[in-house]
Amino acid sequence: MAEQLNIELRTDLKGRDFIGLVDYSPEDIQYLIDLAVELKRKTKAGEPYQPLKGKTLGMIFEKSSTRTRVSFEVGMYQLGGHALFLSRNDLQIGRGEPIMDTAQVMSRYLDGIMIRTFAHRTVIDLARGSTVPVINGLSDLSHPCQALADYQTIFEHKGSLKGLKIAYIGDGNNMAHSLMIGAAKLGMTIAVATPEGYGPDKEVLAASQEAAQQNGGACIVTHDAREAVEQADVVYTDVWASMGFEAEQKEREKAFHAFRVNEELTKYAKPDYLFMHCLPAHRGEEVSEGVIDGKNSIIFDQAENRLHAQKAIMAAIM
Ligand code: CP
Ligand code: NVA
Repeated sequence: MAEQLNIELRTDLKGRDFIGLVDYSPEDIQYLIDLAVELKRKTKAGEPYQPLKGKTLGMIFEKSSTRTRVSFEVGMYQLGGHALFLSRNDLQIGRGEPIMDTAQVMSRYLDGIMIRTFAHRTVIDLARGSTVPVINGLSDLSHPCQALADYQTIFEHKGSLKGLKIAYIGDGNNMAHSLMIGAAKLGMTIAVATPEGYGPDKEVLAASQEAAQQNGGACIVTHDAREAVEQADVVYTDVWASMGFEAEQKEREKAFHAFRVNEELTKYAKPDYLFMHCLPAHRGEEVSEGVIDGKNSIIFDQAENRLHAQKAIMAAIM
């Protein structure tokens, strides 16, 4: 009885990779959110749900992580399986073994592979060479696990997603990309405000605008933070220099100074707006202390939902 879910489990996602929200339909994304909400309820009720007994997830990390590593490892354990932490420095890929060979070898041992890396191409190649599902745990292009957890979090706080406005302020980076495509698929409006020269990827923007059109949403890019935040239900920001861009920190601080999320800016959002940040954050840089630690901030709900959203992904595809 404890193994039963209050939601009908779909079997058609089994074997799929989770590389980007772009590959998933609006119905699939809403299903993963609903499943995450249900798995969260079950965990909090102390009801075990272990469909992945005897299965192992390999987690390749080429960049640092707190949330992704811990939430995948704990999530796999809660689902009855086991997770292996594999640092690039200790793997032969660190010494030049081709990713295609690594993919084939790992597929002989593992039931799923999560990878956090630099070039998005590495995720694609790993998936192409693997016979087991591959999950993108962040690349320079996207961070779909975070975006799924974020939309679950907004859904829990607001009760629905369609028609809401999310303002993303700052760097047109991996986080911006996954939020854009997710919002577009879910029929939301997303307004992305970046300094000139730091806008989102053109292909991601085109795909987001097309998806927005199909699903009754909108995807707007501007260089005016105030315009983006105007009447927003959600205000989201991320670091100015992502992992791999540390050398640009100083020049970015100059370029981004008008894109700090502070009390001055958030007064243009709706009074009950939600403040979100994928974390780790730099207080006093991309966001003021008053905003990130204020009453509208839901950053730790987001962080918690990484666990539940990724359990939903793993339960569905593995
Ligand atoms: N938000 C996020 O992915 O956090 P980590 O870098 O700590 O995994
Ligand atoms: N944009 C950030 C997200 C970290 C979770 C980075 O890539 O470093």
